[in-house]
Amino acid sequence: MERQPILATGRLLLRPFDLADAHTVQRLCGDYAVAAATLLPYPYPDGLAEIWIASLREGIERGDAAAFAVTLAGEGSLIGGVRLRIETEHARGELGFWVARSCWGRGYATEAVRAVIAYGFSALGLHRIHAIHFSRNPASGRVMEKCGMLHEGRFRGHVRKWGIYEDVDLWGILREPAFRPLSPPGPSA
Ligand SMILES: CC(C)(COP(=O)(O)OP(=O)(O)OC[C@H]1O[C@@H](n2cnc3c(N)ncnc32)[C@H](O)[C@@H]1OP(=O)(O)O)[C@@H](O)C(=O)NCCC(=O)NCCS
Repeated sequence: MERQPILATGRLLLRPFDLADAHTVQRLCGDYAVAAATLLPYPYPDGLAEIWIASLREGIERGDAAAFAVTLAGEGSLIGGVRLRIETEHARGELGFWVARSCWGRGYATEAVRAVIAYGFSALGLHRIHAIHFSRNPASGRVMEKCGMLHEGRFRGHVRKWGIYEDVDLWGILREPAFRPLSPPGPSA
């Protein structure tokens, strides 16, 4: 059962992905600049977008994913995606996002990611949201910073991309400052 709402921001509507989006996803994620900044393959193979969209829907139904197609309010065209991989045991979500190359630099990623972070905390009850990006891709880190995430460190050689070990930066945000009791909780007096 689909459990995701449509999120409206100033300029965007974030809605569930539909199989009918597959061709657009293939075209936009098939851009070399998008593939180079993510773990997507290049060239983007036929059929992968359909499999990816189906897997997102399964994850949403299981409760371990949230995923939004980023569309321009008004005209409705699909320009990107934001997803959360959820580890329910830890009430933690990992963000991933992309925006069509032709739409970079207009604040769309920041607007969409902010909305999904708010959704993760308020509707999904997450405690922490984190994300990584290739250290050579500072635009992604800047989006995370503008969304209120804190830079938590750099993992050296953490990911192998096209045969090269890449450094990645980790960013995170907590729903509220962590409360750490000084002693284990016990029976109240
Ligand atoms: C990263 C990405 C999502 C940004 O999308 P976007 O819609 O252009 O993002 P925004 O416009 O909201 O913000 C981009 C910010 O990065 C800044 N930026 C762009 N290139 C930069 C660079 N080389 N160094 C530092 N900052 C940079 C922009 O100036 C802007 O910050 P500002 O508002 O302070 O000026 C987009 O480039 C993309 O999809 N890249 C490929 C996939 C990817 O990297 N995904 C993230 C992996 S988790």
